[in-house]
Amino acid sequence: MVGIAGSPRRGGNTDVLLQEAIRGATSEGAEVKTIFLRDLNIAPCRHCDGCLKTGRCTIQDDMQWIHTELRELDLLLLASPIFFMGVTAQTKAMIDRCQALWVLKYVLKLPVAIGAGRERKGLFISLGGTGGSKLFEPALATVKIFFKTLDIDYAGGLLFRSVDEKGAIKQHSTALQEAFLAGQNLVEAQRGCKL
Ligand SMILES: Cc1cc2nc3c(=O)[nH]c(=O)nc-3n(C[C@H](O)[C@H](O)[C@H](O)COP(=O)(O)O)c2cc1C
Repeated sequence: MVGIAGSPRRGGNTDVLLQEAIRGATSEGAEVKTIFLRDLNIAPCRHCDGCLKTGRCTIQDDMQWIHTELRELDLLLLASPIFFMGVTAQTKAMIDRCQALWVLKYVLKLPVAIGAGRERKGLFISLGGTGGSKLFEPALATVKIFFKTLDIDYAGGLLFRSVDEKGAIKQHSTALQEAFLAGQNLVEAQRGCKL
């Protein structure tokens, strides 16, 4: 399993939720690698079309090894707060750089997932400071198409409104427990697919 922390705020609300989901997953025996996007060097996609013939990105930065992680993982926890109705710039830069994997799949007709026949599943963890009913719609559209490109089944979203101050999620009556359970359930769901 891979956990991706997409917030620029260290120890912020999505970090807390991601950590709980990871605790749940490890309690079920999962081995989890956490990637903190804010600490990495990930340039935005330049649309140079360098990937069109090879499926490989020409920019030499941390996305090179993240591509490998994304292709090899069985389970994904993607965590990003809502910034201006979308995912954070750090998260979007990573997603856009997966254009090389889009090329692999749709242009070169090659497998994106390394390790044939495995079910890959992913959960989106997100929250925002406001309470709007459509708060997660644009980010969800992005995340779902990202998962689809990577052949990852969208297993659901752990989404919370009206969480703004750093650490406010800890005051939520159910969020931490929900995150722990979601991590557990994701591992169990994938185990069920293998039976
Ligand atoms: C640049 C920026 C844009 C934001 N845009 C939104 C928004 O569109 N809708 C919303 O509900 N909250 C918005 N927020 C609030 C964050 O989603 C909120 O503070 C969240 O708890 C941050 O999560 P974190 O602690 O994991 O970074 C924004 C915050 C920042 C800094």
